[in-house]
Amino acid sequence: MANFEKAKSLGDWMNQRLGLDTVMRVMAYEYWIPKNINFLWAMGMILAMMFGVMLVSGIFLLMYYKPDAALAFDSVNYTIMTEVGYGWLWRHVHGVAASVVFLVIYIHMFTGIYYGSYKKGREMIWITGMLLFVTFSAEAFSGYMLPWGQMSYWAGMVITNLFSFGSLELNGVVEWIRGDYVPGDAFILRFFMLHVLLLPLAIMALIGLHFGALRIPHVNNQDGEEIDFDEAAKLYKEGKKKESKVIPFHPVFLSKDVFVMGVFLIFFFYLVFYHYGFALDPVNFDPADGLKTPAHIYPEWYFLWSYEILRPFSKDIGLIAFGFAQVAFFLLPFLDKSPNAVPASRRGLFNIWFWVMLVDMIVLSVMGKLPPEGAWNVIGLLSALTFIGLWIALPIITKLEKKV
Ligand code: HEM
Repeated sequence: MANFEKAKSLGDWMNQRLGLDTVMRVMAYEYWIPKNINFLWAMGMILAMMFGVMLVSGIFLLMYYKPDAALAFDSVNYTIMTEVGYGWLWRHVHGVAASVVFLVIYIHMFTGIYYGSYKKGREMIWITGMLLFVTFSAEAFSGYMLPWGQMSYWAGMVITNLFSFGSLELNGVVEWIRGDYVPGDAFILRFFMLHVLLLPLAIMALIGLHFGALRIPHVNNQDGEEIDFDEAAKLYKEGKKKESKVIPFHPVFLSKDVFVMGVFLIFFFYLVFYHYGFALDPVNFDPADGLKTPAHIYPEWYFLWSYEILRPFSKDIGLIAFGFAQVAFFLLPFLDKSPNAVPASRRGLFNIWFWVMLVDMIVLSVMGKLPPEGAWNVIGLLSALTFIGLWIALPIITKLEKKV
């Protein structure tokens, strides 16, 4: 049994029982961060902050939202938007955050890919990151169902239809997911439960795992340099801060993070007050109507690239291509066979792979929004084939890569 001395203060009393000093040392004061990283390494903290913003704004919306097919639309578009004081503000904050968070997720993912931050013992960071991507996607989709507008209803219809698995025609599975033949009251309630309870809990657990997975390998740096963290930390603690290659997370690195978070918040609130419309589809301001299919059904911008991989092919092949796209990203640490964890600019063919992949995903996203006709269809098909080809080529080109 530990020796509990008379505590000098409340903090001391807590510390004796919870070991807060040790927690702070391991997770903050002696959590060493390389000096040579840039603002792109603040994206992770911006994501954590945005999750907090969505949680708080979501709780306020929850106070007036009604998860009922007959009442949901009005509770959002009438009660929250016009009757509740500042209800419009919480809705705009929540809606804009849901959209912008995906922009930051994509920047964060592509930073990881560019700098090879999924290699050399960092595979679990990547895998937990991808799990976060999938749960965030499910969270966004389930949230999109809740205002019960035309796009909520029809996107819900299209996406749940995917679970019939094409020619397998597993319609029983689709009905089981919907709780009915078509999206209705049971559907809205279960997506409500997923959105406000199960998925946020899963996201919180996954963020914990993602942070935990970072602690041992430490974050990467922009030169892919192998840092001896013990040696660098020793120099720092001896006061040789200039010679040391690291800084402590708290307070030094965190202050830089907070600066980037501040700049981001200016951009975020600019969107909330002046351009909130981009995050709210006009079609979704019409109440859900199961008898009136919108002329053109498309998902939110952040799902467009994967939607466009599904769309140009026949039903079954489209589904396989869609599944392939999701799995490929998960397997990135194992498909990249090169031992080099350095920036893509120093990796020859991989550099070309990276930029073609980035441009291809942007083209896929643009095509996903356009109606599937004429030239758009051909460009969509070619970009989907390029996407699949790039993933097949990855193990081959990285195997050929020389050690740098
Ligand atoms: C959505 C919630 C997420 C949160 C809150 C989050 C948070 C963080 C934080 C705080 C860091 C350390 C600082 C930084 O590099 O930014 C980090 C690193 C990392 N994250 Fe995430 N992340 C999320 C999603 C993702 C996703 C979707 C991926 C990709 C699949 C990912 C992959 C990585 C990688 C590879 C690193 C290591 C970077 C390095 O070592 O330099 N994360 N994350």
